[in-house]
Amino acid sequence: MVPIIDPARIRPRPHLKFHFDASFPRIWHHGGPGSTHLWNGLNMLFPQGERFFVRSVNHYLDQLEDAPALRAQVKAFFAQEGKHAREHQAYIELLESQGYDLSGFIAVYQRLVWGFIDKYSPPPLRLAMTAALEHFTAVMSENTLTLGVFADGHPAMRQLIEWHAAEEIEHKAVAFEVLRKVAPGYAVRTAGLFAGALSLFGLWFFATVTLLRQEPGLGWGGLLRELWRAHRKDPVLVRVLWRGVKEYLRPSFHPLQNDNLHLARAHLAAIDAAAPAAVEAA
Ligand SMILES: [Fe+2]
Ligand SMILES: [Fe+2]
Repeated sequence: MVPIIDPARIRPRPHLKFHFDASFPRIWHHGGPGSTHLWNGLNMLFPQGERFFVRSVNHYLDQLEDAPALRAQVKAFFAQEGKHAREHQAYIELLESQGYDLSGFIAVYQRLVWGFIDKYSPPPLRLAMTAALEHFTAVMSENTLTLGVFADGHPAMRQLIEWHAAEEIEHKAVAFEVLRKVAPGYAVRTAGLFAGALSLFGLWFFATVTLLRQEPGLGWGGLLRELWRAHRKDPVLVRVLWRGVKEYLRPSFHPLQNDNLHLARAHLAAIDAAAPAAVEAA
């Protein structure tokens, strides 16, 4: 059975403000440098990644003229991803102000996305990568809201990630629905899964190592120990990759089969309740 998405439920919250300033610590996760930079590494992927998602789906906007409900969801998805990208970009700038040199990583990342994936892969594959990456993000988001992943972290980061996670769950089926409409084959969906997984986990690892290499006195031995310590505390890479691939390979898979919308709604309702006037104005 094909689940139904309620388009009225996907809504950006542009009024939200996150407070990252000069007082924000370099090591903000109690798990230490490994855990901190694992999540910082993921943060570094968001702005470019989310803009790639928007471009990939936007390519097909004209083909959604006969599906106004899905088109409305797509517009809300764009607004949410745009806000996510801006907030994570602000955090990247904070990392740079703390002294981390991210230029090498960002140059490689941009070259991969703009110079290779955007240039050489066909639009259906880019859309399929987006749909698969949205699934990995939704799995991670559910974990974030249920496992207390950030209970051990700085409250500002926890607020940012949990808000992002909740909105990811809210719009988790949008790119998948567009893919089902314009390129419904299992082969392209699976190709998108493997290309997306390779890009996400490869770049995430590279970003994490880039940051850990810049921790004073750590060296390669310390770096490996920190990575192992972070993995022992929370094996997020393995957990998300394993569950994400296993679920997505099922031919009958649909993102709404994972019953987690209530988690997102409870969290977002609390955010909205905390700022009713701003929500009204948004
Ligand atoms: Fe996002
Ligand atoms: Fe998303």
